[in-house]
Amino acid sequence: MALKIYLVTTSNFKKRHPYLLGDPRFTKIRKGTRRLVELWAQKEFGNLNRCFKMGLPCVKPITVIKNVLVMEFVGKNGVPEPTLVETEVDYNDYESAISIIDDLYNKAKIVHADFSEYNIFKTEKGLLVFDLGSAVDAKHLNAIKFLERDIKNITKFFVKRGLTVANPSDIVKRIVE
Ligand SMILES: Nc1ncnc2c1ncn2[C@@H]1O[C@H](COP(=O)(O)OP(=O)(O)OP(=O)(O)O)[C@@H](O)[C@H]1O
Ligand SMILES: [Mg+2]
Repeated sequence: MALKIYLVTTSNFKKRHPYLLGDPRFTKIRKGTRRLVELWAQKEFGNLNRCFKMGLPCVKPITVIKNVLVMEFVGKNGVPEPTLVETEVDYNDYESAISIIDDLYNKAKIVHADFSEYNIFKTEKGLLVFDLGSAVDAKHLNAIKFLERDIKNITKFFVKRGLTVANPSDIVKRIVE
């Protein structure tokens, strides 16, 4: 298993308010940072659950206890699988990444909002997305803005790696329509 512990002391959770406010699932937010980090752990668990149930390629959530998220460990002998940024990439990876963003939006009805080469594992069986703490409901006020940013960021990564890929705004249009 992998544990992700949300810490009160190391994170500026107040800065993260834009990813909670406006999401219909989080209408009543109680004051206090301790409560807030627990909410974040629960939010990531809820997001992962939604994706996993829809059959999306994401890490498997197990449970959440207070500020600790429990997931299935992705890797071998305690060594995590490499993330996209740590590997060679090709056009297939680009297409898989875009298809994950598409399925997140159209099947799981969420936007990752922190989608990047650092938050995707590249395994023998393909790409696996993780780090869904920031992900928002597709009905969030800024969902489309976050979707555009996710697509722009991942496009930038593949272009930097020398690939010729589609225009991000065309991808956004295709996904939203
Ligand atoms: N389920 C998992 N199995 C194995 N390793 C994992 C798992 N989830 C996360 N990791 C490892 O922990 C690292 C950080 O995870 P994650 O991105 O969720 O946390 P984070 O707080 O956002 O960290 P960062 O700020 O570095 O992005 C990942 O790059 C990965 O190496
Ligand atoms: Mg991360």
